[in-house]
Amino acid sequence: MTDLPAPDPVPAPTGDATAHDLRSLRKQSSIYVYEAPVRLWHWINALAIVILIVTGYFIGSPPPSMQIAEPVSQFVFGYIRFAHFAAAQVMTVAFFGRIYWAFVGNSHARQMFWLPIFSRHWWSEVFFELRWYLFLEPEPKKYVGHNPLAQMAMFFFMTIGITFMLVTGWALYAEGAQKGSLPDLAFGWLLGLVQNSQRLHTLHHLGMWSIVVFMIVHIYAAIREDIMSRQTMVSTMISGHRSFRDDRTD
Ligand code: HEM
Ligand code: HEM
Repeated sequence: MTDLPAPDPVPAPTGDATAHDLRSLRKQSSIYVYEAPVRLWHWINALAIVILIVTGYFIGSPPPSMQIAEPVSQFVFGYIRFAHFAAAQVMTVAFFGRIYWAFVGNSHARQMFWLPIFSRHWWSEVFFELRWYLFLEPEPKKYVGHNPLAQMAMFFFMTIGITFMLVTGWALYAEGAQKGSLPDLAFGWLLGLVQNSQRLHTLHHLGMWSIVVFMIVHIYAAIREDIMSRQTMVSTMISGHRSFRDDRTD
């Protein structure tokens, strides 16, 4: 028989802990998954995106600010654009920080940036997860990081989606910042590529709706999985720890 390591000491029973609870405690049922920079980025990015969507929507469909006061005594649209650009700068810096963390952080910090599309096993789990989300599987699997379907959504809607919004947004900004400015030097080429400003506005606007769709599905899935899966979800993005609800290894 192989020598198994002695089990970790278990704290003395407290409160209403049963023998079953103590057996559970002996197994490692909580794993530190999302490091602080990932969590910080998640919530800063979520807040910036909400501000960008609300203000961006108003930029596309301006409120009737003339009814609020005479133009000389109000600055409503100016504040809306200011909030949009301030949140855009926060999102830009935060995204670069997040990319840096993909290099220096743990393996889960890299999940959002690549898809193992040549792995058969990964694809089978994508379809398994899809069936689970559609209530066609009786029990979900356990995942330490993102499940493969979530990973796919995050890759397309966030990694690609945020990059798209940054590039199109800064190209729009370049128009106001004028020729020779930093935004113009970095992104001005895009205006030439799409040929006119209206087309760039439309692309940027459509990008917003794809992020809105992601947000709705993402928040539904995070709360649903918090309730129905075999592991914690929302608290994992707050504390960083993933706890599992059962000790089974299958
Ligand atoms: C605008 C709103 C939001 C956006 C754009 C967003 C985006 C993201 C992204 C990109 C990730 C991957 C994180 C990474 O790997 O670095 C993620 C994960 C996660 N988000 Fe959000 N999020 C938003 C709001 C929320 C809200 C409101 C909740 C809670 C109800 C939430 C719960 C989670 C959870 C639990 C994970 C981890 C999922 C897992 O463990 O697989 N998110 N989110
Ligand atoms: C999730 C991210 C973002 C969302 C959802 C978003 C949304 C929007 C929307 C809906 C519009 C109106 C487009 C129209 O119909 O004409 C807009 C305009 C604009 N956005 Fe964004 N945006 C985002 C990120 C950015 C970024 C990173 C920048 C970079 C500075 C940016 C700069 C601009 C500019 C310059 C305009 C045009 C303002 C004007 O014409 O007065 N946006 N945005």
